[in-house]
Amino acid sequence: MAQSAAKFVSSAWQKGIFDGKVVFCTGGSGDICSAQVRALVYLGANACIVGRNKSKAESVARDIAAVRPGAKVLGLGDADVREAKVLEDAARACVDELGSIDFAIAGAAGNFLAPFLQLSPNAFRTIVDIDLIGAFNTAKATAPYLIRSSAASKGASGRIIFISSTTQYTGRHLVTHGASAKAGIDALSAQLAIELGPRGITSNVIAPGPIAGTEGTRSLLDAGKAQEVSKHIPRGRLGSLKDMSNAAVYLFSDAGDFVNGTILVVDGGAWRTGGGSIGAGIPYPESVTSDEPFAARLKKAR
Ligand code: HXC
Repeated sequence: MAQSAAKFVSSAWQKGIFDGKVVFCTGGSGDICSAQVRALVYLGANACIVGRNKSKAESVARDIAAVRPGAKVLGLGDADVREAKVLEDAARACVDELGSIDFAIAGAAGNFLAPFLQLSPNAFRTIVDIDLIGAFNTAKATAPYLIRSSAASKGASGRIIFISSTTQYTGRHLVTHGASAKAGIDALSAQLAIELGPRGITSNVIAPGPIAGTEGTRSLLDAGKAQEVSKHIPRGRLGSLKDMSNAAVYLFSDAGDFVNGTILVVDGGAWRTGGGSIGAGIPYPESVTSDEPFAARLKKAR
């Protein structure tokens, strides 16, 4: 049954603006990306979402497809963004099934809270691999199709969005690994904007602050501190999935045609205050100076 848009995308957008477009999304089973894909599909696109967990990718795809009669949404699982070949195969499967890739979202991410002194080289590498190498692999796998789409189309086409964060702008304890990876994503997007712009591609970043209702916020923001964190956000609330969807719709729409190489921060102004970010609400400096394993202390605190 078709769903009403009001809850997940602004009514300012007209239905049908993405008719005939196909979006390819890594991390597409996650809360933020699935919300963004849902909005794009509601507005006319077909989609291919890629995730690590097969049954989750398939069930999220079915759920998104229900948003619009006739929508086609492919859910590809068993796909780890750290594997370039896996994403090449997924992109090819998307084009075979849906005809093109007009938009890409690189949204797969992994994270946990850990003090730098307790972070192993493998832990750091794991997050850089998922976030940054995964973003690179997504861009590499989709770029040839995005270029083809842009060359064939007169409308908005050939666009890529990377999902980053605001932690790398403010600095924040306990997320050295995530912030480092996200800073790399910002740089990667800027480079693509420059190198692929002449091929008709736009490349931009959406950088969220804490978004209510996501697994990341539930696990990374200190439990029960959302209200406290909201006090440091000029707009006075956490972000919503709808805020994230509206940002993606804007960047993929005709309205976003001249926006290239930028970072669209969606955080209610929080990073300008240095507040309202992952790890906010967890006491500093105790959290980084104690030698007791952080995970054990966090468990006790919760
Ligand atoms: C310390 C940890 C750890 C923790 C994992 N490691 N969790 N170290 N504290 N809590 C270490 C392990 O000990 C190991 O190092 C290395 O990281 C790899 O761990 P694995 O479990 O083998 O890796 P993997 O199976 O690939 O999974 C890693 C993961 C996982 C993706 C981070 O924890 C996970 O599935 N998380 C849930 C999904 C998620 O993270 N969602 C949040 C997204 S929001 P050693 O040395 O022992 O081998 C988000 C916001 C970004 O990303 C904000 C940016 C700042």
